[in-house]
Amino acid sequence: MVKKKACVFISGSGTNLKSIIKSSRDYNFPINIELVISNKKSAKGLNYAKKYSIPYKILVCDRSKFEQHVLQLIFLKKIEIICLAGFMKILSKNFIRKFRGKILNVHPSLLPKFKGLNTFNRVLETNEKLSGCTVHFVDEKLDNGKIIVKKRVFIKKSFNQETLKKNIQIEEYKAYSQAIRKIYSAI
Ligand code: GAR
Repeated sequence: MVKKKACVFISGSGTNLKSIIKSSRDYNFPINIELVISNKKSAKGLNYAKKYSIPYKILVCDRSKFEQHVLQLIFLKKIEIICLAGFMKILSKNFIRKFRGKILNVHPSLLPKFKGLNTFNRVLETNEKLSGCTVHFVDEKLDNGKIIVKKRVFIKKSFNQETLKKNIQIEEYKAYSQAIRKIYSAI
């Protein structure tokens, strides 16, 4: 099958990147990761790009320069899809408009609940019984675009931020690959 060319943006540990890389090794998975971009030099996720021989670029600069570089790279590599995976920089409206319907993101809550940062802490503070994760298209508003896949996690009384995060991230790995299959397998 002809796979679509994807680029994954990361800022941190990159466990979602690792999970997408693993899925993409399946012949029938609809995308191939051609490039990893990090806005942090220290992002541990870069090790997965190295381990799996995926070209990567570290771009530590202001948003406008970051996006200019990214546009050049995406053009050169003919990238068709951008997957945000723990990417903690907000992209400009202009950039998002250029790639409307082509940028996906994973967020560690059942959107539209708990948009923004410090999700696990806020979920626990409000005594939620249920949370989860959401893979969605990115639009101009934060954590707002059309939802592709949601997965639920029931919150046990014993959960703290660490255990909630761990349990939600296990669902994120399934949700991200499922969302990619759902969107791009049919095309
Ligand atoms: C993930 O849990 C993801 O949902 C979250 O960052 C983590 C990245 O983990 N993203 C956001 O909070 C974005 N709003 P990873 O680097 O190990 O994939």
